[in-house]
Amino acid sequence: MQYFTGETLHPVHSFKLRCGMNLITSCCVAMLVHTVVHASAPALQIALSGTVTDGNDPVENAIISLVNNPLFIDTTDADGAFSISNSTGGIDVTRRNSRRDCTVRLSGNRMKIPIAMTNEKVSLYNAGGRCIRRYAPEKDRPGSGIMDLSGLSSGVYLVTFSAGRLSLVRKLMVTATEMYLTGTDAVPSTGIRQRGWSQAAVDQLKITGAGFNDTLVDISSYRMDDLLIVLTPIDSTATETSLGRKYANYFPVGAAIDGDSYRDAHAAIWKEHFNAAVCENEMKWESLQPTEGNFQFDQANAMVNAAVTNGMLVRGHVLVWYNQTPDWVYQGSKEQVLQRIRTHVTRVMQEFKGRVYAWDVVNEAVIGYDAAGQDVGEDLGPLVRWGYRNSRWQQVAGEDHIFEAFRAARAADPDAKLFYNDYWNYLDGKREFIISFVKRLQEQNLIDGVGLQCHLNISTAQEKMTNQTVYQTVENLEKEIQEYAALGLDVHITELDISIYTRDYASSDQSRWYTGYDLNEEYQDKMAARYREFFEMFRRNADKLQNVTFWGIADDNTWLSELSSGRPDHPLLFDKHLQPKKAFDAVMDF
Ligand code: XIL
Repeated sequence: MQYFTGETLHPVHSFKLRCGMNLITSCCVAMLVHTVVHASAPALQIALSGTVTDGNDPVENAIISLVNNPLFIDTTDADGAFSISNSTGGIDVTRRNSRRDCTVRLSGNRMKIPIAMTNEKVSLYNAGGRCIRRYAPEKDRPGSGIMDLSGLSSGVYLVTFSAGRLSLVRKLMVTATEMYLTGTDAVPSTGIRQRGWSQAAVDQLKITGAGFNDTLVDISSYRMDDLLIVLTPIDSTATETSLGRKYANYFPVGAAIDGDSYRDAHAAIWKEHFNAAVCENEMKWESLQPTEGNFQFDQANAMVNAAVTNGMLVRGHVLVWYNQTPDWVYQGSKEQVLQRIRTHVTRVMQEFKGRVYAWDVVNEAVIGYDAAGQDVGEDLGPLVRWGYRNSRWQQVAGEDHIFEAFRAARAADPDAKLFYNDYWNYLDGKREFIISFVKRLQEQNLIDGVGLQCHLNISTAQEKMTNQTVYQTVENLEKEIQEYAALGLDVHITELDISIYTRDYASSDQSRWYTGYDLNEEYQDKMAARYREFFEMFRRNADKLQNVTFWGIADDNTWLSELSSGRPDHPLLFDKHLQPKKAFDAVMDF
């Protein structure tokens, strides 16, 4: 218990109330408070406890404080629980007014004003500042004065109590069923201790939590338990124009950059709308180690540094892939090849340690086979089984090349998240095969997640019903995300884009090409609808998705238009003029 006696002169406040045409003269309030704290004084008892939730979910680390007694503060625990009491705040304070101590009561729709106050004037103003009721004391009339509050419509009013130069302003809140008189001091200085009849708010709890709107909750007593306070997530999203910031509470949104886009006209979009990055080609084997032992990091370093400088997360793509890997790598014995994997993985990951947080360690190692042992590609008609791709890695080293790559990666940077990355995970059979070896990697603690490429199409195949895109539905993608997550794996969408073409006809069939330079309204709408439904699903599964990355920034620079067919495509959220498309609006509309 603290012992403290003192006289406190609060700062002088002045109030100006606008009332219709008149400006009420500003009144000065000098608050003279005699503060007495001693052992025998009736202590201000504060004991408030409850739970803070976001809907049904507890909110941890929300800060709860009392507006009038900010020394009383607590932080919610993992269950959203808080408790504020004298022991939490550590102080006992009793404020007694040195002159008078009287109580204004709200009773029904009347305000009872004690006789001791009859030298004061009480006025009621509506929200527009117009004085609508006035209580003028009748000095020689005994008993309480009464101000009639009947007939007030719901809303906020101001009540002023004034005696000579002393004035006090309080809010009167009127709802359909109740009235509250709110204060900013438990015992105001003019001697008026106002308490509402039963529901009067004597104070407010202030709740702040990262990602949520600040909330004020009126409390009618300092002793309450089982308070349930529901916080609403910050709705800055409603006006948020940046894609990355809009998804701040869901997952980072990334874009693949190339040696130009990270610093040319695309860079402004990249920095404004994305908070994660990946190099489209510049960290592939042929770029980083074109000839044995000759590591070339300059280009990738420049790009990664640009991303990191802009506060972005960087994914590393890719350590071991059958493509864009020079021939020399596969020469010699199995042991030589595995040693090259170890050397490459170790050197590359050490180079980017601390700047690249997740790596695609192995990419695209699984395909479907027909009866003749050939890759079935798009058409699943002749499919008989899924298996490891018959790549040169596989030919020389079998699945050891995969395990060896992950083992070297884990050793090179134990803090990095390690991923297996592939396309068409929505095909059950392909996913089952992937899971069969991913589980074994997991048992050895060599893997943290799977990357789902998600090179999607504007619609599923309509003509060739054996084409793999038939399975490319929101439902199936959701299933793949949930199945991988259920294994305890992180899930990243790593290479998202949506081609305007379906996959059931050959890309070389020029009669089916879209020839417009700008995407017409019909395609814009179709694309927007498809992006919308995928992003709705991504948001629903935000607890299972740790990253969503687009394979490019704008349609003027997309690998889909650079395919050997030369067919132009429009797969991203920004068009060839770097303007947001309808698809962008659809993704931002929630
Ligand atoms: C692509 C690049 O976008 C092209 O520029 C390059 O010519 C070929 O590779 N799956 C992957 C990516 O994992 O590395 C591929 O990137 C696209 C398909």
